[in-house]
Amino acid sequence: MTGYVFPESFVWGSATASYQIEGAATEDGRGRSIWDTYSHTPGRTLNGDTGDVAADHYHRWREDLGHIAELGLGAYRFSIAWPRVQPGGSGKFNRAGIDFYSRLVDGLLERGVRPVATMYHWDLPQELEDAGGWASRETALRFEEYAAGIVGALGDRVHTWTTLNEPWCSAYLGYASGVHAPGRTEPAAALAAVHHLNLAHGLAGRVVRETAPAADLSVTLNLHVVRAASDSEADLDAVRRIDALANRAFLGPMLDGAYPADLLADTASVTDWSFVHDGDEKLIAVPLDMLGVNYYSSTLVRAWDGVSPRSDADGHGQSAATPWVAADDVDFLPQPGPYTAMGWNIDPEAFTELLLRLRREYPSQPLMITENGAAFDDVVSADGTISDDRRIDYLRRHIAAVADARAQGADVRGYFVWSLLDNFEWGYGYDRRFGIIRVDYDTQVRTWKQSAHWYKQLAATGRLDQATS
Ligand code: FCB
Repeated sequence: MTGYVFPESFVWGSATASYQIEGAATEDGRGRSIWDTYSHTPGRTLNGDTGDVAADHYHRWREDLGHIAELGLGAYRFSIAWPRVQPGGSGKFNRAGIDFYSRLVDGLLERGVRPVATMYHWDLPQELEDAGGWASRETALRFEEYAAGIVGALGDRVHTWTTLNEPWCSAYLGYASGVHAPGRTEPAAALAAVHHLNLAHGLAGRVVRETAPAADLSVTLNLHVVRAASDSEADLDAVRRIDALANRAFLGPMLDGAYPADLLADTASVTDWSFVHDGDEKLIAVPLDMLGVNYYSSTLVRAWDGVSPRSDADGHGQSAATPWVAADDVDFLPQPGPYTAMGWNIDPEAFTELLLRLRREYPSQPLMITENGAAFDDVVSADGTISDDRRIDYLRRHIAAVADARAQGADVRGYFVWSLLDNFEWGYGYDRRFGIIRVDYDTQVRTWKQSAHWYKQLAATGRLDQATS
């Protein structure tokens, strides 16, 4: 979409997450999370990288706020580390941890930047995992208590409270394929985790409604655009099944107040879903001011014919176990390039398609793009500049896709680039760089890539065609 002008009210932001940037893993009373344990387990992350130091944001947050202000962004999406504010995941809160986020929020407000706080971006206190983790209902109840503590402390100084980031990843990558913490490969536990994450969302959402009524409430989902390899009945049914696991397992209870019947039927060989108690689904469907959408790439499936070699190119890491519970007869096919350094295909049209689907199915639900961006192997030239043209091209094409969707009626209110800084990219450690600002991990020096200059111009003008690199 050329010549599109975003309105002044459109929010331009950037996003990060606690374990990916903070470091200071043992400072000021922080407890341990499942990601500390996982990343310190040999063989779990690329090069054995951990978030112990990361981008050292815990000590450099003032400088990082300076970059956000200099970029001219209207909002900053960060996450709160549960083990930093409530070590152990129950009982007493840690003053030093709360104070850190309180200063961060005040610092954003002083600079005229909206704080958008995610309560859970994957750093579950290890003690709660030891007691069953997200497979246990108790974890959702603990989450409600944690939410009450942080919303009580930060309240409506936080503009938007986001309960969860990508519960799909927490449940299926954490408990089915095991490529994320806690690294379990138990399909039934993964589906229980789906429900307990949904329940945690509903419980925490109600806390926000009651304690900080002026704040916006949201959740962030990584919705999948699933396409069929052919229009055969079998391939279309493969799409339906994956759509149920990937998308409707969350959209259903959160926005429609019920799990889809086909999801329960498809997974009946794994669980009877008796962990869903009467009243849970109603509780989960707390009205949302904003639905957060993360988008990176698309998914292509077909029904396995029982003979061909299996294909598992779903972009979600390599594991002997699949994240796709009870969908063993579905193949995930490699897609045409180009690809990012994650090996993910670049498909901005699918982004438009996703936003239009949401408009069609949930016409009155405002949307926010809470993550979009790309990892590439950046090259620092002799004069210190980083000409990350491919990242700029990715961003330009995906923001144009958002413009396209808006022009067709999708109510998208803002866009957060992933990420402000290079950071700890989970199982891929420091090897994959998503930042618009480079971090030199030896010196912790921050350097703007060309994409940061480009994004600054876009945020200032709202005009995609006029932002030049
Ligand atoms: C998303 C995560 C985020 C980051 C990006 C690349 O799945 O929410 O933390 O790792 O992918």
